[in-house]
Amino acid sequence: MTVERIVVIGAGTMGNGIAQTAAISGYQVTMTDVDRAALERGKAAIEKSVAKLASKGFLDENQRRAAGEIATADDIAPAADAHLVIEAATENPETKFALFGELDRVTPKDAVLATNTSSISITRIAGHTSRPDRVIGMHFFNPVPLMALLEVIRGLDTSDSTRDLAFEVGRKMSKEPVEAKDSPGFIANRILCPMINEAIFALQEGLGTAEDIDTIMKLGMSHPMGPLALADLIGLDVVLYIVEVLHRDFGDDKYRPAPLLRQMVDAGYLGRKTGKGFYEYKV
Ligand code: CAA
Repeated sequence: MTVERIVVIGAGTMGNGIAQTAAISGYQVTMTDVDRAALERGKAAIEKSVAKLASKGFLDENQRRAAGEIATADDIAPAADAHLVIEAATENPETKFALFGELDRVTPKDAVLATNTSSISITRIAGHTSRPDRVIGMHFFNPVPLMALLEVIRGLDTSDSTRDLAFEVGRKMSKEPVEAKDSPGFIANRILCPMINEAIFALQEGLGTAEDIDTIMKLGMSHPMGPLALADLIGLDVVLYIVEVLHRDFGDDKYRPAPLLRQMVDAGYLGRKTGKGFYEYKV
């Protein structure tokens, strides 16, 4: 099957980044979200990002126009004629399971259903459909228009042709696809989130200030941003959720969440999106 029409479910940071990148790569894209205000925010984020990339000469006029032609909807009806659906809804297992059951009913039988989950088992999500061979993880990275990686995760029953389709679409979107096994956190978050969690322990134990910890990782390890600034970018609630998944699913206390991380989430300090995390931001 040749993919022409992609439906992206969710207009949040990941969803709008995926929709934008797919559209400028030549796909016909519809971005859906049950929350109309989220759709408006998603469209505004795309406009801002496209203007920035165009001003740097990274996008031509056709690509700019294509991004402006992304359709939107507040239900999943447009999935009825999609070749590929990329789900980037809230990272909540029950939400995703229900959504995949519904997508399975409304999409053409040969459509591929992909999820951008960062931590939920692809095999479990696929179990809520009648086509586990056509369900796959396509895990993008924030900010999607700039990050070069696509982590591709096969569930137990994902077919070779579905895997090949995900690689092909990823490459067309100028991403480097890398395959990871369906294990908690896959590869990226299995390594990244324990590092961030350890940085939070270091802060909590007073080993240094947030700035010191981040500077050490930036200048000593050439990371583009320190782990605490990165936690603010990802969202502290998302980091906590992933660390909890690693802790629970591996049953190993080396993944226990830092108490400070939990406290900050309880206090509503979720990072950039709330204006306060390890640093302060204008919202
Ligand atoms: N679209 C277009 N341009 C963007 C953009 C976007 N979405 N986001 C940032 N930019 C632009 C900025 O506007 C800025 O432009 P100017 O230089 O013209 O002002 C430029 O990119 C550089 O940005 P910054 O000056 O803010 O900072 P930077 O040079 O450090 O680059 C960064 C920003 C690309 C985010 C870089 O810091 C970086 O690579 N950080 C690491 C990000 C990372 O690790 N992401 C993965 C998170 S994990 C995840 O997503 C998955 C998960 O499951 C948790």
